[in-house]
Parts: sequence; C-alpha cells; structure tokens
Amino acid sequence: MSNSQDKKKPGGKSSAMSRRNFIKGLGVTSVGVVATPGVEFLSTLRQNPPLAQGKLLGPDAVTITLEINGKKLQTSVEPRMTLADVLRDQLHLTGTKIGCDRGACGACTIIMAGKTVSSCMTLALDAIGQSIETIEGLSPAEKLHEIQESFIEHDGLQCGFCTSGMIMSCKNLLDSNPNPSLQQVKVATSGNLCRCGTYPKVFDAVLAAGRDGH
Ligand code: FES
Ligand code: FES
Repeated sequence: MSNSQDKKKPGGKSSAMSRRNFIKGLGVTSVGVVATPGVEFLSTLRQNPPLAQGKLLGPDAVTITLEINGKKLQTSVEPRMTLADVLRDQLHLTGTKIGCDRGACGACTIIMAGKTVSSCMTLALDAIGQSIETIEGLSPAEKLHEIQESFIEHDGLQCGFCTSGMIMSCKNLLDSNPNPSLQQVKVATSGNLCRCGTYPKVFDAVLAAGRDGH
C-alpha cells in the first residue's frame, strides 16, 4: 500500500526522493551560512589553496609559517586543526577566545587579510600567506589601543569573554571607517554575541573612539 509520501510525481521521481536531493543540496551549499553575520566567512579566502599544491596532506603534522601581528611564526599543525586552536594551543596567543567553536558567537574573531574572520571556522592551513591580526597585536608595546582604552572608559565589558572578538570587529570597522554611525557599529558587531548584554556600552565605546580620532 502506498502512502502519500511515496506518490510519484509527473517526472517519475517520488516526492521522498526529491526531499532527499533537496536536503543533500542544502548540505553542500549551506556550509558558508554557519558564519556569524558581520564576520567574513573563509570561502572568500579559499580561492588559492596555499599549501597542498596537489599533494595529499595529513594525517601527520606539517610545519607551516603564519604571519601574525607582523611576525612570521613557524609551528607544526595537523591539517585538521583550526586557526583558533593553533593560535591558543600552539602559539600561546590566548587572547583569542573560543566560545561556541562553531561559528556562531564571534568570541574567536580575528582580522585576516583585512577582514574579520571566525578563527574557529578557519583551518590553520588556509591562513598561510595571509596577514593575521589578533588582540595581542593591538598593544604590542604594552600601551593599549584607542579602542581598548575606550572600552575601559565606557565599561564596554563585564565578564570579558566576548571582548577580544568584539574589539577586533570594532577595530576593523574603525580602520576602514574612522567615524561610523551607530547603525554601522551595530552591523559590524552583529556577529559578536555578548551574554552579559553590554551592547549599549560597546556602541558608546566605539562611537567615542571614532569621535576622538581613532
Ligand atoms: S564563533 Fe568561533 S568560538 Fe564562537
Ligand atoms: S562581557 Fe560577558 S559575554 Fe560579553
């Protein structure tokens, strides 16, 4: 006995099959959609795979050089490792935080090739040859960056877990738009979730940093 789900369509395919095909197609095309809004997804940086050159990589570790905060740092990574893990565990740049580890919260936001990126969704191998900026790069001489000063001045943080990612998004905005509107600040930070709800203070901090001549 057939049920309604197995009824044939005019083209000869069952509706159940069509749904499967639809879901399969969705799986392929939805990869980039996981990225947080406001944070550039990696696909735009994947046009020139940097290392493989036709070779199969892994499962063993490979030695790579990353350009981070203006310095070339060499480390050994397994091809499966994310940039967030490599920054924190291999290079001890623990200012970059991992919250969701799946591209949803923005805690791991860094700047790569001039764009904000979720480092938990970026393979370390895909970061080869890219200029990477992390929160540590904002105050190399132990003097805080203007946006960091402004966050302190305006109470732009509570627990601080979202703060380094939030600051990287704000810094990237100010780099390209030194005097943003409130709406532009909201858009730039829309991929950075703050469970403490400090958004109004963050917005104040960014607007003030812009006004004060970032
Ligand atoms: S988006 Fe990377 S840890 Fe949440
Ligand atoms: S300050 Fe606590 S999550 Fe943002």
